[in-house]
Amino acid sequence: MRLGKTSAFAHPSFFFRHAGLEFMKFFVDTAEVAEIRALAELCMVDGVTTNPSLIAKSGRDMKQVIAEICAITPGPVSAEVTATDATGMLAEGRFLRAIAPNVAVKVPLTEAGLIACRTLAAEGALVNVTLCFSAAQALLAAKAGAAFISPFVGRLDDIATDGMRLIADIVQIYRNYPTLRTEVLVASIRHPIHLVESAKLGAHVATLPPAVIRQLLKHPLTDKGLEAFLADWKKTGQSIL
Ligand code: G3P
Repeated sequence: MRLGKTSAFAHPSFFFRHAGLEFMKFFVDTAEVAEIRALAELCMVDGVTTNPSLIAKSGRDMKQVIAEICAITPGPVSAEVTATDATGMLAEGRFLRAIAPNVAVKVPLTEAGLIACRTLAAEGALVNVTLCFSAAQALLAAKAGAAFISPFVGRLDDIATDGMRLIADIVQIYRNYPTLRTEVLVASIRHPIHLVESAKLGAHVATLPPAVIRQLLKHPLTDKGLEAFLADWKKTGQSIL
């Protein structure tokens, strides 16, 4: 087991599943280390998801980036295999797991991905099964022992298909099996409404591009209201300290 001193009880999966956390987890969907550091300051980083496109966009060595991200957050950090056969996925998945105890191995929702998921999960790995576009696929991922299933809502919306309907279906199905350990990790989020609707449905995790996290914060009436409070306070000539 590559967890070194970490016992199974301190493994990130234990923390998330048994710490009695009742609220949605926010993962950050990026491989930009500086962005993750900044958002960690906001305490908005329960984990991180990357994929080959995000790693390519960072322009950096994957192993180095994943190691740096794992040092920023104790939560699960998804690192995706690039092999397309089960044997290759297993070799890459085991290599990625060795980078840090909180690496979650990401595999695509293919036959080889499910085979790799089952073996890696049996070895104690956190597996994030990605590129999910149907409830039927989500059933298979749960059967394969995935820790996370990543349905891509934005890419469904992009083709005029209701991405949130998929989240509703998966959450409804998984709720029928209370001991199921697979968590719904909503991915391909394009805007704050995807997050709000996912929370209304009870999805366990949302992985958010940094820009969307910042959009969540902003409201013009908050800015306007604060400006008015401070203007009125200034008229009193008082100071709290
Ligand atoms: O985690 C998956 C996410 O990065 C995919 O998002 O915008 O490429 O559909 P997008």
